[in-house]
Amino acid sequence: MTSLKKIIITVDGWSSCGKSTMARQLAKKLQYIFIDSGAMYRAITLYFIRNEVRLDDATQVVHALQQIKLSFHLNAENGNNEIWLNGENVETFIREMRVAEKVSEVAAIREVREFAVKQQQLIGKDKGIVMDGRDIGTAVFPGAELKIFMTADNEVRVMRRFKELVAKNPSIQMEDVRSNLAQRDHMDSNREVSPLRKADDAIVLDNSHMTPEEQLQLALQWAYEKMTA
Ligand code: CDP
Repeated sequence: MTSLKKIIITVDGWSSCGKSTMARQLAKKLQYIFIDSGAMYRAITLYFIRNEVRLDDATQVVHALQQIKLSFHLNAENGNNEIWLNGENVETFIREMRVAEKVSEVAAIREVREFAVKQQQLIGKDKGIVMDGRDIGTAVFPGAELKIFMTADNEVRVMRRFKELVAKNPSIQMEDVRSNLAQRDHMDSNREVSPLRKADDAIVLDNSHMTPEEQLQLALQWAYEKMTA
């Protein structure tokens, strides 16, 4: 039997196209670590909101980052790797709309990106990792063995995110979700520091008409090809 090589798998793409779902499925199957890099930017944003950090004041931003300790811990009940901020599980709070509304602005700050990218590279140093985000294949792990760029039709993405959010907050409006996604996609792909773009060697996966099982099978096939190469 050929032994399987440990690799790095990056999953980048637009908001709400199912990156985390697929990265999580893939990691589970391969017994790899799954890291949702977006959760890190969301947790930093939550800290900035709670502490009223002014985003246009570099001194305040740098000082705030020095106070932030992020870590991921496995939740034994649901099997998910959840994010903790300074000793508190913030997984629920970071998904709130008030965080979604600010996160792309926070994620565009150079110091914030340097802070997060350094930790992401450290977590992936021994490979055996699936990480999803916007710049993972381009800036965090440019040498990754398998890079997937995910996309889905706009309205499919809006519906998916709306269903997810309305389950927690029944008063949420579809229009608010639609404009938040559009705004974040615009900011993420137009920012100066490592904007969202497909790495030249990434494979595109459009999952508009795929079930989670179908997308997993496709990605697994790609992963095994790289692991046995
Ligand atoms: O809503 P969705 O799950 O698609 O986004 P997310 O993965 O939770 O990421 C939230 C935000 O963090 C994105 O809109 C980006 O502004 C930022 N982000 C980033 O800049 N770089 C990453 N590697 C991951 C997320």
